[in-house]
Amino acid sequence: MQVISTIAELRARLGAERAVAFVPTMGNLHEGHLNLVRLAREYGNCVVASIFVNPLQFGPNEDFDRYPRTLEADCAQLQGLADVVFAPSVNEMYPVRQTVFVEPPPVANELCGASRPGHFRGMATVVLKLLNIVQPQAALFGKKDYQQLHIIRQLSAQLDLPVRIVGGETMRAADGLALSSRNQYLSVSERGEAVFLYQALQGMRQAILQGERDFERLQQRAVETLAARGWLVDYVAVRNQSDLQPASPVQGDPAQRELVILAAARLGNTRLLDNIEVCLIG
Ligand code: PAF
Repeated sequence: MQVISTIAELRARLGAERAVAFVPTMGNLHEGHLNLVRLAREYGNCVVASIFVNPLQFGPNEDFDRYPRTLEADCAQLQGLADVVFAPSVNEMYPVRQTVFVEPPPVANELCGASRPGHFRGMATVVLKLLNIVQPQAALFGKKDYQQLHIIRQLSAQLDLPVRIVGGETMRAADGLALSSRNQYLSVSERGEAVFLYQALQGMRQAILQGERDFERLQQRAVETLAARGWLVDYVAVRNQSDLQPASPVQGDPAQRELVILAAARLGNTRLLDNIEVCLIG
C-alpha cells in the first residue's frame, strides 16, 4: 500500500490503472469506512482511499479544529485493504483561496443543510475535486450520510461525471448505534443514551409498516420523546428515498412507497445522525 500526499504523484501512480474504485473519507476510520473499502474491491482492481479533513464543509463554529486526525492508525487499518491512500494537506488541495464552488441542489438547504449552512456546498466541491483527481470508475459513500449520498448522486448525474456512485450500508455497534467518527465525543452516559436515536427511528418505521400515514404526527412525537430525554433535535423527517422530498401520505404511487426516515440530534456537544429506510409493498 502506498501513501501519497501530492496530486502529481497520485496521478503518476494511477495513470496506467483502468479500474479504480475510490473511497473518500475524512479519516479516523472505523468499521463503517473499512467495510466500504472492502466493498470497493468489487468495483475495481485498484482501491484508493483518501483521507482529508475538508475545511470547506465545516462552519465557523463547528468541529474542524478538534476533528480527530489519526493518519498513522488509519493507514495501519487500511493495510491489505487499499492499494493507495491519498492524504493531501490543505495546501495541496487548496493552494489558492477556493473561489469556485459546486452549487448543490436546493435539498442541500434542508435537513442537515438547515443547521449547517454551506456544508453541502463545501462537501460537493471537495468531492468533485477528489473525483477529478482520482478519476475512479466507482466511488463509494456510506448510507449513514444519506443526504450527502443523495447530493453526490445528483452531482454525478447532473454534471455527467463518468463514475458509478455506490452507497454502502450503515454499520452499527452491537446495540444499534450507527458507527461514526463523532461517537468518540460522547461521554459514557451519553454513549448509553445515543442508541435511542436509532430506536426512535425503528419505532417510527414499525408504525408506518403497521399503517400509520400521518407522518407529521409521527415526526412530532419522535421529536417530543427525544427532547424529553435531553436531546436537542435538529430534525426528524419522513422523506421519499428518490428525491428526499417530504413523503406524502397519499397511497398508490409506487415511487412514494420507498421512504427514508432521517434524524439529526445533539446529545451534549455531539451531533448524531441516523436514518432508516422503509419500503412499503403494495
Ligand atoms: O463523508 C465524509 O467523510 C466527507 O463528507 C467526504 C465525502 C469525504 C467529503 O469530505
